[in-house]
Amino acid sequence: MLSRDKMPAHIGIIMDGNGRWAKMRGLPRIEGHRKGAEKAKEIIKAAIELGIETLTLYAFSMENWQRPKNEVSMLMSLLEMYLKKELNAFIKEGIQFRAIGEIWRLPEKIQSIIREAEDKTSGNTGMTLVAALSYGGRNEIVRAVKKAIYSGMDVESITEDSFSALLDTAGLPPPDLIIRTSGERRISNFLLWQSAYSELYFTNTLWPDFSKEEFIHAISDYQSRERRFGAVPSRET
Ligand code: FPP
Repeated sequence: MLSRDKMPAHIGIIMDGNGRWAKMRGLPRIEGHRKGAEKAKEIIKAAIELGIETLTLYAFSMENWQRPKNEVSMLMSLLEMYLKKELNAFIKEGIQFRAIGEIWRLPEKIQSIIREAEDKTSGNTGMTLVAALSYGGRNEIVRAVKKAIYSGMDVESITEDSFSALLDTAGLPPPDLIIRTSGERRISNFLLWQSAYSELYFTNTLWPDFSKEEFIHAISDYQSRERRFGAVPSRET
């Protein structure tokens, strides 16, 4: 059972294992991504039902640009189709859509769908859905440093808070929980600055096999942890 008053405000997910899922079935990798996109839809729905305020999905990393050209272009077509198809659902569900990462690197068509999705959902008050696309944590930090310098920011005014406001995630709470599927136990350049105190949940399940039940299990695991943010446990004070 989940405790309503200890729900993570922000969950980040590294959706890994689509390729292996397809390979195990003798299918082309893109079939794994297709299944992965369906899974993303299911988990977005579950997050809304559970009252999660912000959900960030790592859909395409900076490093993913190095994949074979045809996989990148198929992923881009999938992304385009997905966003086009889901835009009305985002509006209907009251989702606020936001993309983080080097969006300008994406095909122009996708950039314009992203802009449309952000514009049309900016007045919504439901869950914030963040798509990390062409995203890398180090790249985001470097871009924020450049913004600080180019804007002529006074060195003394640079604080953790003022710096956070220069990141792509400005205004969003840091992730309380980060889930990574497929057995890898690393952060892989995802929300590096923001994950300083995130609880991590790793599972061997491949992303296309992930389920609402396991999502709830991950949240319940999170709720059983004691978060101290570097301080002593409250019972010892
Ligand atoms: C990792 O699996 C997954 C990706 C690189 C792409 C994720 C994209 C989607 C789920 C579709 C788009 C979704 C949204 C929400 C817009 P992998 O290929 O690294 O798997 P492997 O490690 O088994 O090879």
